[in-house]
Amino acid sequence: MSQFLTPIEIKNLYLRNRVAMVPMCLFCAGEDGIITDWHLVHYGARAIGQVGLIIQEATAVEKRGRLSPRDLGMWTDEQVEGQKKLVELIHSLGGKIAIQLGHGGRKSRPGPEEIIAPSAVPFSRDFPTPREMTPQDLERVLRAFQEAARRACLADYDAIEIHGAHGYLLHQFLSPHSNHRQDNYGGVLENRMRFPLEVIQAVKEAMPAEKLLMIRLSAVEYVEGGYSLPEIIETSRALIRAGVDILDISTGGGGTTSPRTYPGYQVPYAQKIREQLNIPVIACGLLTRPEMAEEWVASGRTALVGLGRVLLRDPHWVLKAAVEMGVSGIIPEIYQRAFPDEK
Ligand SMILES: Cc1cc2nc3c(=O)[nH]c(=O)nc-3n(C[C@H](O)[C@H](O)[C@H](O)COP(=O)(O)O)c2cc1C
Repeated sequence: MSQFLTPIEIKNLYLRNRVAMVPMCLFCAGEDGIITDWHLVHYGARAIGQVGLIIQEATAVEKRGRLSPRDLGMWTDEQVEGQKKLVELIHSLGGKIAIQLGHGGRKSRPGPEEIIAPSAVPFSRDFPTPREMTPQDLERVLRAFQEAARRACLADYDAIEIHGAHGYLLHQFLSPHSNHRQDNYGGVLENRMRFPLEVIQAVKEAMPAEKLLMIRLSAVEYVEGGYSLPEIIETSRALIRAGVDILDISTGGGGTTSPRTYPGYQVPYAQKIREQLNIPVIACGLLTRPEMAEEWVASGRTALVGLGRVLLRDPHWVLKAAVEMGVSGIIPEIYQRAFPDEK
């Protein structure tokens, strides 16, 4: 019996197993940010491959918040139809799908649009200096997240994940490394978490109460002058009070330094947060083997295991994992001839 391949219900969302495909940008939309055939086939293949929860790539809430001119978008009503089609496809294949809504802030590379951020500090020498956000910008971005969430509900996504990690806009507010504001959005932690909290509250208002709200956070920053893990735990506590149901725990991205990575390198952070806050967490990071996934879930370290690049390489990872773990009933009937000894 494998625990990570057994179903789970979180809030009202039934997942056929505890494998989450973590968000991975494909950068293959047109300038209009609309879903393409590539997205349908790509995500559809992972649903056929029996992934429990697909978390769609970072999808821009504002044109100027795109990470590239080819990001998916949720900044206009015209984008909803394509997203709806994708959600219907995933549901018809028995899968569940969340959308990650994001804004790049100073890490945006949208094309001609102006770049905005909490402070006028470039991410690195390779990025332009952003303009410091005015109160009007704050209001506009807040409403952009809210409108994107409203559209995501129209498209019937099973959950919404707000991107608060990897050095993008909301992370930039949380971090003293990128947030040098003198107003009540900068300085002490209570101020730095203010804008992310306002976004969560605005998004929550646009969603039915029963729909799952997730946030992705970088637990640690790997940069001088960054925030600490206790600060992220305190922030998470406030985010949960504001309505977050699941924490998707990653690390880094706020600066140019990277940690030494190895399978499971982010799990201790997720585990610590889960222990302190008693909330379902997702962790990922170089997970490739089913026995690792089993260990993470069976030991109670994570509620769901996050798989990234391994699922880009192999949409049938879950099917092969089921065979290796001796779990029957997972291979779709249409593919059973490819797995002659399995059911
Ligand atoms: C091609 C690619 C695109 C990514 N895009 C996103 C993204 O849109 N949003 C996000 O939160 N993380 C993104 N990530 C980070 C992954 O979600 C994940 O955290 C990272 O790849 C580590 O997991 P892995 O070792 O299983 O790949 C991306 C990673 C890759 C490789």
